[in-house]
Amino acid sequence: MSDTFDVIIIGGGPGGYNCAIRCGQLGLKTAIIEMRDTLGGTCLNVGCIPSKALLHASEYYATAQNEFQGMGIGVSGLKLDLDQMMAQKDEAVKGLTQGVAFLMKKNKVTHFNGKGKIVGKGEVEVAMSDGSTKKLGGKNIVIATGSEPASLPGIEIDEERVVSNTGALSLKSVPKKLVLIGAGVIGLEMGSVWSRLGSEVTVVEFLDHIMPGADAEISKQSKKIFEKQGLQFKMGTKVTGIEKLKSKLKVSVEPAKGGDAETLDADVVIVAIGRKPYTDGLGLETVGIGTDKRGVIDTVDHFRTTVEGIWAIGDCVKGPMLAHKAEEDGAAVAELIAGKAGHVDYNLVPSVVYTKPEIAWVGKNEQQLKDADIKYKVGKFPFMANSRARTNHQTDGFVKVLADATTDEVLGVHMLGVGVGELIGEVCVAMAFRASSEDIARTCHAHPTLSEAVRQAAMGVEGWTMQA
Ligand code: FAD
Ligand code: NAI
Repeated sequence: MSDTFDVIIIGGGPGGYNCAIRCGQLGLKTAIIEMRDTLGGTCLNVGCIPSKALLHASEYYATAQNEFQGMGIGVSGLKLDLDQMMAQKDEAVKGLTQGVAFLMKKNKVTHFNGKGKIVGKGEVEVAMSDGSTKKLGGKNIVIATGSEPASLPGIEIDEERVVSNTGALSLKSVPKKLVLIGAGVIGLEMGSVWSRLGSEVTVVEFLDHIMPGADAEISKQSKKIFEKQGLQFKMGTKVTGIEKLKSKLKVSVEPAKGGDAETLDADVVIVAIGRKPYTDGLGLETVGIGTDKRGVIDTVDHFRTTVEGIWAIGDCVKGPMLAHKAEEDGAAVAELIAGKAGHVDYNLVPSVVYTKPEIAWVGKNEQQLKDADIKYKVGKFPFMANSRARTNHQTDGFVKVLADATTDEVLGVHMLGVGVGELIGEVCVAMAFRASSEDIARTCHAHPTLSEAVRQAAMGVEGWTMQA
């Protein structure tokens, strides 16, 4: 045995690295194993961060093209330098992954670059990137191996013309015709990026609505906005195959409920139909840890697997596949290992889609409340009536507050609008303190800000919205 630790973490994404930092802070001797050359996982390397860097830059480009003139700003000679746009994205990724490596050192976490495999209770073998093998012993093992893109049977991802979310972040040129399979978060975010940069985008979605999980009203209204921006949707449709010709791709689609097939031409296809836990070669079977049909690791309670001393967190266990959820899991499991009371409230994990306008929500939506037979009141406020949104000429969308009909406790908040990804934070705090809609309505918000729309929607629950 070359070394022993209190905690061995397999996977250096938001779940793993936040767990490592908290373990270090709590005085636990900690190791983190990551098979990528850089730490940060999917999120920093091929997920949240590069996608947001491209969303930000492409939004500037589209704004300069479509909105500057109306604000009295003349632009001439505007042109896209895709290589530079990709370089600034890579720069953001590099800075942040290096930052995580620094945090490991600062918190005295030992970093092993290689693939970890559980070979027994408390035993992990690392196939190091330099070709050597290391055996580590640990009182606790935390599995934080994350997820990988789900695939479609019969459709081969080559990351050049038929790409997963990874290839979608690094296309070498702007495809003339782009087909996206899946109108979920990646479909809408990456569809927005490439549409802004000039692609003709068609999104093929199996269901009859976009963004499963979002409030139905928001899903409906946002679809209309994305359509106005140029995204085309083929709803209730499935892709049955892709023929790769030299000059183009021929995408066969047919109605999900059956009907006539048709063919769409494309230069690039992005497959974004969800993600699945990644546990390849991890050795779960060696210690008898099971997974469900989708590969989600079985946990008994509070991140404990069926084997004592082995824990699992983040995308590879149940719950939303989100970086901040993985972070919460990571910190909580560290505290549990240290004998403290780690806890995550999964009802308060916000969702944000970083399109323009953004979509953000936390808590229950109307359908979920109806299904649970909970009586609720609704307060709504449109950004059209918000002074800051008007000055910014960004008036699409609204805020909707759902509060318990008897107690007035806020049960869910759903927003569509520019900047709502930031506004959701105040709602999470309010809900963590079990605020009533009246608590938010009676809290002074600065004027003129978009956050006043949250307050006004809360006021709307009691019918005393002030702004017209
Ligand atoms: P991961 O980040 O997947 O990290 C797991 C790590 O474990 C990986 O680096 C992997 O290489 C490593 N690993 C796996 N097996 C082994 C092994 N045996 N040995 C060693 N290392 C191993 N979430 C958000 O909240 N906001 C967003 O804006 C957002 N945008 C996204 C955009 C895209 C395009 C994608 C794909 C995802 C996005 N996500 C976003 C989701 C987010 O990236 C994940 O929820 C998050 O990364 C999960 O963290 P994790 O630590 O559980 O797993
Ligand atoms: P998703 O689950 O958000 O959406 C997948 C979509 O594909 C769904 O609408 C589904 O109905 C559809 N679909 C499934 N099979 C299909 C088929 N055969 N044909 C057509 N449509 C089909 O998954 P997505 O967009 O791939 O993202 C994966 C995960 O990554 C998300 O669930 C999310 O957790 C995370 N993510 C989060 C982001 C954020 O927080 N802003 C951004 C990007 C990803």
